Amino acid sequence: MQVIALVSGKGGVGKTTVTANLAIALGQHRKRVLVIDLDPQNAVSIHLGLDPNEIAGLAREGISPESVFESPFGVNFIPFGNVADDELAEFEAVLRSDPNFIHKGLMALDPKQIDYVLIDTPPGATVFLKQALYAAQKAIAVVLADAASFTTIPKLLSLTAEHTSGRSEFNGLNLLVNQMTEKSVLGQQVRAALYDNYAHIMVPVAIHKDASVAEALAYERPVLQYNPTGKASLDINDLVDWLLIHCEA
Ligand SMILES: Nc1ncnc2c1ncn2[C@@H]1O[C@H](COP(=O)(O)OP(=O)(O)OP(=O)(O)O)[C@@H](O)[C@H]1O
Ligand SMILES: [Mg+2]
Repeated sequence: MQVIALVSGKGGVGKTTVTANLAIALGQHRKRVLVIDLDPQNAVSIHLGLDPNEIAGLAREGISPESVFESPFGVNFIPFGNVADDELAEFEAVLRSDPNFIHKGLMALDPKQIDYVLIDTPPGATVFLKQALYAAQKAIAVVLADAASFTTIPKLLSLTAEHTSGRSEFNGLNLLVNQMTEKSVLGQQVRAALYDNYAHIMVPVAIHKDASVAEALAYERPVLQYNPTGKASLDINDLVDWLLIHCEA
């Protein structure tokens, strides 16, 4: 079982989109995938075909076979759950008191039955990020080729070092550029700066900005199914090929 945390310093970069589609693509490679929605926005459900009003999920039940839903798109997932503010505060308190809550929950499932666990997180330094990093063997930070994303990277790297220190099984953080456009000169400059500063941790695949990503969500389908030959889908398939080599389950 390989646990991969999808993280970012800045919001709205595409973590949830990448998490859901990466999971489905791994499923298409016959990998057994479990997605954990560790973000109170509870958005993984929308991507994986569950009513987002469903209250069952991680915040109420934790990680257990009973909290796992089967997506029609070939992967299993645990939604965050649609919880009230007091339930959320209670759950956050539990996470604060036990940084290994998610790790222990995953170990209590049958790890031999799962190839990849993908954990979606909210942006920035949160109790959820800490949990995800404590459980992960790899982190993928989704970044946009813009200055705002670029400036968040040092902080993400130091948080990752802090929350994975002393764990030899942690396999590093990689940077994945999403919503790439070839036309933008500024975008090209930021990408060049990313490679200049972080060449050793760049995922060698960037995901193009592709209108079919948002259209797919509007049709309640993953982009891999809605437009399998579109730019974003082809990039996600390349991302899976990279992951299967660099994070072998
Ligand atoms: N490759 C892409 N091409 C075009 N649009 C994209 C792409 N990736 C993501 N988007 C769009 O960007 C928006 C944000 O995506 P998403 O919700 O996945 O980001 P997020 O990082 O999970 O956000 P948050 O930080 O709020 O959790 C969505 O409208 C999504 O459709
Ligand atoms: Mg998200």
